[in-house]
Amino acid sequence: MLTHTLSEKTAYYLQLEDQFGSHNYHPIPVVLEKGEGVFLYDVEGKRYYDFLSGYSAVNQGHCHPKIIQTLIKQAQKLTLTSRAFHNNLLGEYELFITSLFGYDKVLPMNTGVEAVETALKLARKWAYNVKGITDNQAKIIVCADNFHGRTSTVISFSTDPSSFKGFGPYMPGFEIVPYNNLTEIEKSFQDKNVAAILVEPIQGEAGVVVPDDGYLKGIRTLCYEYNVLFIADEIQTGLARTGKMLACDHENVRPDVLILGKALSGGTLPISAVLCDDEIMLTIKPGEHGSTYGGNPLASAVAITSLQVLKDEMMCENAEAMGILLREELAKLNSPFIKTIRGKGLLNAIVINHANPEAAWDFCLELKENGLLAKPTHGDKIRFAPPLIINKEQILESVDIIHRSLKILS
Ligand SMILES: Cc1ncc(COP(=O)(O)O)c(C=O)c1O
Repeated sequence: MLTHTLSEKTAYYLQLEDQFGSHNYHPIPVVLEKGEGVFLYDVEGKRYYDFLSGYSAVNQGHCHPKIIQTLIKQAQKLTLTSRAFHNNLLGEYELFITSLFGYDKVLPMNTGVEAVETALKLARKWAYNVKGITDNQAKIIVCADNFHGRTSTVISFSTDPSSFKGFGPYMPGFEIVPYNNLTEIEKSFQDKNVAAILVEPIQGEAGVVVPDDGYLKGIRTLCYEYNVLFIADEIQTGLARTGKMLACDHENVRPDVLILGKALSGGTLPISAVLCDDEIMLTIKPGEHGSTYGGNPLASAVAITSLQVLKDEMMCENAEAMGILLREELAKLNSPFIKTIRGKGLLNAIVINHANPEAAWDFCLELKENGLLAKPTHGDKIRFAPPLIINKEQILESVDIIHRSLKILS
C-alpha cells in the first residue's frame, strides 16, 4: 500500500480519532478545517477540490453564504420547540417543499435513513389501511446492491455483508430483486401482499450504477398496474445532483413516495423529508411516528434556503453541463487504468482497472497529494461528485489532477 508522510499536526488528529473514536469508518488520511465553495482546506492550509461533496450533502458548495446567513439568523432566534407546540416556520417550509415537488404533504425527519424508515412505515400503514392487506403480511420489494442507510431494519435488506453481517436477527417483510430488471419486479408483484417497491433511481453507494433508460418509467407503470407504491430514495440522487431536481425527472416519473435528505440542508444540519399525497400520509395518526428534531424551526428555515439556492443559481443546469464536460474530459485521458466512466449530471464514478486490489485506494491517496479529495467505494470504484457550483475551468484543473495522479498506477 502506498504511504505518504503525514505532517505532525495531521498525525495528531488521526491519532486522537483512532484512540478515542469508534472504528466504523476508514477515511482518507486528511484532516480538514475549512470549506468554501468547491474547495476544502486541511489543517496545514492546503487546498483541495472536494469530489465527494459530503456524499452529495454539499451540492450547493461548502458554507454557501445564503444558507449560512439563514442558519445564523434563525439560530439566534429559535432553534427547537419540539412538535409538542407549533412554530412559525414549519408550515411555511411544508408549503414551500410540497409546492416545489408537487405532493399534498411532507413529513420532516433528520437523517436520510430515518426518512427511509418513515417511508417504509407509511407503506405498511397504507398496505393495511388502504390496500387491504392482512395485518403483518405486507411485503416491500427492494433491489440488490441497494444502500438506504444503517438502521437494523434497513440493513436487513442489504445485500452487502459489510452492512448486515453480524447484526441479525433481521427484520422480515422484504424481498430483494436484481437492480435494473423490470421482469423480476413484475414477477415479485404477483404476490398480492406487495405494498411497495423501494428504489434508488441511480445506485450511488454501489458505485453510481445508472439503470437503463425506461427503467423508472417501467417501475411506474408496473406500480399502477399492480397497485403497489413506488418509493424513490432520492437522498443521494435528488436536489440537482444528476442535472435535474430529481433523478426521476429524467424520465418524467412521479414516485408515490419521495425521500429526500443530504443536500436539503446544504451540509449544515441533518434534514430529511418524505413527501407523498394524503391517501398515504394521513394513514399515520398523531402519536404514531415522529422525532424530537424533525421539523424544527432552524431546519425549516435552512431547508427553504437550501432549496431556493439550487433554483436561483441554476444548479441543475450547471450539473448537467459540467457533468457532460467531466465525462468527456475523463474519456479523453484514454487511460488503461480507467475501465469505465459513468454517471449523470455531477454524480459520476470511474472503475479502476488494475491487478492490485489496493489500486483505487492508492490512486485516491495520490489525488489527495495533488489536491483533489475522492474515496473508493466497493474496492475499485471512485465517485466523482463535486459541488454543483463547479465551473469549467475548475473541471479542467480537476481532470488535470486526475491525469497526473493516474501515473501512480503505472
Ligand atoms: C440513497 C441513500 N439512502 C439513504 C442514505 C442514508 O442517509 P443518512 O446517512 O443520512 O442516514 C444514503 C446515504 O448515503 C443514501 O445514499
